[in-house]
Parts: sequence; structure tokens; C-alpha cells
Amino acid sequence: MNEDALQSALENPRNLGEMTDADSVGTVGSPDCGDMVRMWLKFREQDGRRVIDKATFQSFGCQTAIAVASLATELIRGKTREEALQLSAEELSAPLGPLPPMKIHCGQMVEGALKAALEAEQGNPPSALAPPVPQGPTLADSLASAGKSAGRIRIVMES
Ligand code: FES
Repeated sequence: MNEDALQSALENPRNLGEMTDADSVGTVGSPDCGDMVRMWLKFREQDGRRVIDKATFQSFGCQTAIAVASLATELIRGKTREEALQLSAEELSAPLGPLPPMKIHCGQMVEGALKAALEAEQGNPPSALAPPVPQGPTLADSLASAGKSAGRIRIVMES
């Protein structure tokens, strides 16, 4: 990961804050860490196309999520809904370089918030989205289920 790019995005985060006149808003939380990103989108007509005029975000998350969200809100300006829907978490976080494995979900969370906002703009409920962040069991779930199966283990004493 490019630490300089991360620092510069954090020192001067772009488009941070709520947008009161947004056309749509999307929110995604990460089951991995409990963090959350919300993104607002405003559209405009340009040459007969409806493009993203402005995007803002709030992040209740780690620094990587804040940096990716900041970069993403810049990257998607001027794009149509369809163009923005094509963007992957890797593309949104590209200036930061490849994210370390434990930070990949941070980028996926931003991608999820963007897609949720894009879907909401079409009047679709956010639940119609494919989950952008793996919905696998949390560590707590894994521990709980491990505990349950442990309860089924029978200890047989050898004679
Ligand atoms: Fe969870 Fe980055 S968003 S650690």
C-alpha cells in the first residue's frame, strides 16, 4: 500500500460530510469490523447524459476506508450511473496501491456504499444489491458455532 497516498488523502479528505440536497444516499456496514460508510450522490444533465455532479461521504471507519471514500468521490464525478456501477473496489482504491489482505474489506465497503447509492437513485431498495462485502460469519459467530459443536463432542474414556 502506498503510505504517502494514504497520508495525503487523510490530511486533505475530499468531499467529506452530509449532502442535504442529494439525489440518493447509500450506506454499507462491514460485518468484519463494524465500520460503516455512507455516500451521497447528486446528478446533473450533461450533453444528454445524466452524470454524477458531486459525491460526498461520511465514514465511521478506519483510515483506509476514509482514504478510499475520499478518492472514490473524486473518481466518480462526471460518470454515468452505469459507468460508476462498473467500478470495483480495486479501481476506487487504485491510487493507494494494492491494499493488504486485512484492509481489502475497507475498499469493498466504499464500493458497497457507492453501489447502494446508485441503486437508490433508480428507486430500487438497497436490499436488491448483491452484498459488496462478504457476509461471512464474524469471529464472534465462528466462536459461538465452534462452541456449539464442541458441545456435541462425546468424550469416551478408554478402559
Ligand atoms: Fe473496517 Fe477498515 S473498514 S478496518
